[in-house]
Amino acid sequence: EAPLTAIQEEILALKKERNALILAHNYQIDAIQRVADYVGDSLGLAYKAEEADTDCIVFCGVHFMAETAKIVNPNKPVLLPEMEAGCSLSDSCPAEKLAAYKAANPNVYVVAYINCSAGVKALSDVICTSGNAMKIVEKVPADRDILFVPDQNLGQWVSKQTGREMQLWPGSCYAHVLFTQQAIERLKLKFPDALVVAHPECVETVRDNADEVCSTEKMIGFCRDCDAEQIIVVTETGMIHRLQREIPEKTFIAGPTDTCACNDCRFMKMNTIEKLRDCLRDMSPQIEMPEDIRLKAYAPIKRMLEWSK
Ligand code: 13P
Ligand code: SF4
Repeated sequence: EAPLTAIQEEILALKKERNALILAHNYQIDAIQRVADYVGDSLGLAYKAEEADTDCIVFCGVHFMAETAKIVNPNKPVLLPEMEAGCSLSDSCPAEKLAAYKAANPNVYVVAYINCSAGVKALSDVICTSGNAMKIVEKVPADRDILFVPDQNLGQWVSKQTGREMQLWPGSCYAHVLFTQQAIERLKLKFPDALVVAHPECVETVRDNADEVCSTEKMIGFCRDCDAEQIIVVTETGMIHRLQREIPEKTFIAGPTDTCACNDCRFMKMNTIEKLRDCLRDMSPQIEMPEDIRLKAYAPIKRMLEWSK
């Protein structure tokens, strides 16, 4: 591995000075992943944030993830290098719209994928991630009608796996729906022995034809344990850095799209190594949240963390 750059060294020194914990999602750029204390999926990151006993947390990911860290660990500053790093999926379910739906359908049991705002979490009964969605949905009392928000693709996948009918909110991730089965098949002509691993936010045809569908963290185990030497990774490209670092003997091929050459999440990529340094230096920007919303959003997260153990 290449030696750390001056700015990465600067970040490590600031991290020590601030007694900070740096958490990074699997979609972050390699330079950020390399200075993080923990790199993982939304579920792993939520547990790490809850356990953190440092003076502050720096969350290199998108806004809803940093918000979740603040909800589970409210008494310390949670920094997000770029406050504008949102999520198209989270945006597809505004809290006011969910509140209106609940007013019209008062008996629904709301299972919310963690990719949503604190306001949506506050209106939900339980949260899930791509890593535990099946387990969570199976624990919902059988006599309740489930509304699954905001990702219709993950919801449809969970519904198919568990046999549990659910109403699906019509949201999706702008980046994952760009992957097409047609483009994957074209790539497989070039790599006929490659296996395909896909994130559940992908569309149904892509999921149905993949060798494995799972969260980003579970992709590590699948790629390590499978017999294939080459794996097509149908998710955001940051995932490839982590896979290549942990399983250097295998070849990872970024999942293909039909319409453009880009399969980066533009929100995840708003965090840069300079912004990470600046936020540690300035102790800003920080996540702020009204305490009543935090408490309401914490209840379904707590339920998830307990159900998911
Ligand atoms: P994971 O929890 O599987 O890492 O997914 C997070 C995400 O934002 C996927 O787009
Ligand atoms: Fe949101 Fe999609 Fe980006 Fe994940 S990849 S953070 S779901 S926009």
